[in-house]
Amino acid sequence: MARSTPRLSPRTVFSRANGDGVRAYFEDHGASRYSFYGYGKVACRDGIDVMLAECPDADNVVLPAYLPYGIVEPFREAGLEPRYYTCDRRLQPDLNRIEELLDSGTLAVMFVHYFGQPQAREDIGAIRELAAEYGAYTIDDNAHAALSTLDGQLLGTFGDIGITSLHKTLPIPNGAALFLDNDDLSGAALARSAVRDRYTKADYRYCGRAFGRSVSRQPVFKQALSTLRWVSARSRRTNGHVHQNDIEEDPREIYESTKIPMSRLSLHVLERTDPIDVIASRRANYRVWDRTIRDLDGIEPVFESLTPGACPQYYPAIVEAPDDLGTLSGTAKPWPPLPYEVRGDETFATENDLSTRLHTLPVHQGLGTDEMEVLVCLAND
Ligand SMILES: Cc1ncc(COP(=O)(O)O)c(C=O)c1O
Repeated sequence: MARSTPRLSPRTVFSRANGDGVRAYFEDHGASRYSFYGYGKVACRDGIDVMLAECPDADNVVLPAYLPYGIVEPFREAGLEPRYYTCDRRLQPDLNRIEELLDSGTLAVMFVHYFGQPQAREDIGAIRELAAEYGAYTIDDNAHAALSTLDGQLLGTFGDIGITSLHKTLPIPNGAALFLDNDDLSGAALARSAVRDRYTKADYRYCGRAFGRSVSRQPVFKQALSTLRWVSARSRRTNGHVHQNDIEEDPREIYESTKIPMSRLSLHVLERTDPIDVIASRRANYRVWDRTIRDLDGIEPVFESLTPGACPQYYPAIVEAPDDLGTLSGTAKPWPPLPYEVRGDETFATENDLSTRLHTLPVHQGLGTDEMEVLVCLAND
């Protein structure tokens, strides 16, 4: 079974900051006002408050129905009614439905770039226009792929506000950003933005788990690792931290568990990451899946092609009979756990169907040619 996210390497941690890193990449691709957070949901919560400061009477928000249930929580916490629009099987928004849902109480319309592939420019433009007609803002949710760009501009910066989840692309314990792209919105109230100024036990535990085998054989680390394992076991017993992959957690609990600052280790890794290498590896691995999947029966790609500038989070494919995935079942994961209001509702037939059939295949930068070959053999089995 392949990991779905990359593992942090000692080489990254112990290398020097190279001056480029993720921040420079953000700034080179049009992100001028942004702040760091532990998680995208909390970044979104601050963004909501920034918009509410201008429109305090707003009472609803227009969201895509094809969404994991946890991301709806910040809107509920802010007292906004979520209204859902549909998409098609290529994950393109239903613009007519968006217009039907908008009214004078709408704070914002959110659009999502799924799995790191940008929505079409025309659709982004149309959503912005519709929102503006009703005096609403737009939220560009680029949680999935922090390094993706469209025509040279960073995804996440196409709305009045936007978010990205760095921890979904990079081997870091947590990390996200809120982008403000409307000069009329004041960033004065970004109350939840924070980066820890020191390393915590959680950072050491994360390294301990990531370095595992390679380092554990070095005598100098043996003592340190045994301490980390002890601390890790004790903390699992005492604080019951919510892991996002667990099945059917309470979305409210998921959200509560994300109200933490970005870790110091995450910042350290951002400063030592070469975005260009990450993008190249992910795109190469995506192409391997694309060649493989297009030759298989009973499984079809979601996207026609890999958009220039996209740094894919996963390779998404629609599986006709998920129970027959065979050897790939440990690697291909269904996505997402839909919001409760959307589940089983006929209006959202496409979303409900996709949430059982759409599976994600890993493309991350930690997968080398050998591992990809093994995965492709499994798929062909
Ligand atoms: C589309 C989308 N937006 C936002 C989020 C929230 O991101 P985070 O896990 O960083 O809070 C997720 C999480 O999976 C997501 O899939």
